Amino acid sequence: MRRPRGRRRRRAWLLAMLLGWTGLAGALELTPKEAAGRRLYREGVGAGDTPVEARVGPAGMPLPASVLPCAGCHGRDGRGRPEGAVRPPDITWRRLATARPAYDAASLARALGEGLGPAGARLDPAMPRFVMSRADLRNLTAYLQRLEADRDPGLHETRLRLGTLLPSAGPLAAAGKTVGALLQAALDELNRAGGIHGRRLELVIADPGADRASAEAALAGLLDGGGVFALLAPLAPALDSRYGELLAPRGVPLIGPLPEADEEDSSLVFAPLPGWREQLFALAEFAAGESPPATSPALIVHPPEEARQAAALAGRLRARGWQRVRLLDYGAQAADDEAALTADLEALFFLGSGEALLALGRVLDEAGLAPRLYASARQAAGAALRLPAVFSGRLFLAYPLLPADVTPAGAQALEALRRRAGLDGQQPALQIAAYSAALLIAEGLKRAGRDASRERLLQELENLHALHTGVTPPLGFGPGRRVGTTGVHIVGVDLAVGHFVPTGRYVQIEP
Ligand code: HEC
Repeated sequence: MRRPRGRRRRRAWLLAMLLGWTGLAGALELTPKEAAGRRLYREGVGAGDTPVEARVGPAGMPLPASVLPCAGCHGRDGRGRPEGAVRPPDITWRRLATARPAYDAASLARALGEGLGPAGARLDPAMPRFVMSRADLRNLTAYLQRLEADRDPGLHETRLRLGTLLPSAGPLAAAGKTVGALLQAALDELNRAGGIHGRRLELVIADPGADRASAEAALAGLLDGGGVFALLAPLAPALDSRYGELLAPRGVPLIGPLPEADEEDSSLVFAPLPGWREQLFALAEFAAGESPPATSPALIVHPPEEARQAAALAGRLRARGWQRVRLLDYGAQAADDEAALTADLEALFFLGSGEALLALGRVLDEAGLAPRLYASARQAAGAALRLPAVFSGRLFLAYPLLPADVTPAGAQALEALRRRAGLDGQQPALQIAAYSAALLIAEGLKRAGRDASRERLLQELENLHALHTGVTPPLGFGPGRRVGTTGVHIVGVDLAVGHFVPTGRYVQIEP
């Protein structure tokens, strides 16, 4: 039996209130015609049975409009694109209605159908001609008139909502608390200075829970009910490497996956600091200088859950000239697999926990082997100084960041923030990652302007160069470049005195 509508609606509203979500209140209500126009604008799909057609180029080659929707060139926000030879212009109604001569419904129809501007001048053939029914044309025109008001979720007159996923229980609870406090303090500081373009920044925190299903539900809650504009520094390992896919349908930007994240390449995800890929590749580059790749074998030892990373590293090593690269999954094979641990082994890349590295170190030592070991600092630094003495000077760790990257002013700013957030100096890498993510999104939003949109934010971030955060090397992005700083420090160990010893090598990984 169906519940009466009124009651259902009231319950949904109550739920939103309880969860502190008021995002829906600001969402634009479109009429059915306007909604159909939006679909045509964004996806090139008309309301009727006849498909909408685009005629492309000087010869007018026919293509389904679904492969060339308006939004693909003019942007979802209708504001055009800054780059390219022939620029798709701003086609928000405000602009079209104030063009000289101004557009109206009839001249818009002529521009779309015949490629003629309101004064009769021919539009560049880079703008396709469109063949659509009169009903589709009416819907599209109606939507273009509302396009500007059809703002992305989370962008309100006086506030802008950002969302994050932070666990409140389980092994990452402490990290979640640290990140939440730091992000909130960073946004408070921006708000005290007047916010960004007249908007206060609000942080909506959802708990991803213990597994993938709960994390996906929490993310859906943020995006649907929570009405957040973008995601900031989420900590939900169950969703790592899936954000690209989950965020793509709505084009939601994610700024600052934390160092723990196992991120897949996605044009929507901007990371301030190098992730596992850059770190492993930097180790491969460094190792090539230590052992001759042409003659010495390399072994990658990894747990089953890091098979993807291991495979990527193997590909990189082969591309770098290693002739013999083996993989050893220590979930499936014995760690002392004799075929893998050969006497001529010179380079061993280790993925996994510090404890597993110690166990491996003992096995190698007992077998009388001492290959050079390469690992990420995040995984191995905690155990590094407890390795058998033979590995002194033979273990190398990748660090995305060293204290020397932090300027005195940056350290001071972070310290002030930390004090206000009630945090101590624990988990400094995590704090820096969260703080730099907050600085990055703030800069992107400033550049995106008062009329920001998700697309605009993505564009501005992509065009960002040399952003000085004070706590990282200068950050910069570009087309196809989504990691803000691609340099990785390599640090060795002196086990006799129990010290880390910087090698002075800072390896740049080109995207
Ligand atoms: C393949 C890219 C592309 C697609 C798809 C596209 N446009 Fe365009 N559009 C352009 C370019 C480029 C121009 C600029 C042409 C010029 O400068 O002469 C333009 C110009 C226009 C103009 C004229 C603006 C003015 O200032 O005179 C309008 C209106 C317009 N497009 C609307 C649309 C609509 C509505 C759709 C979807 C049905 C659409 N366009 C799809 C690339 C595109």
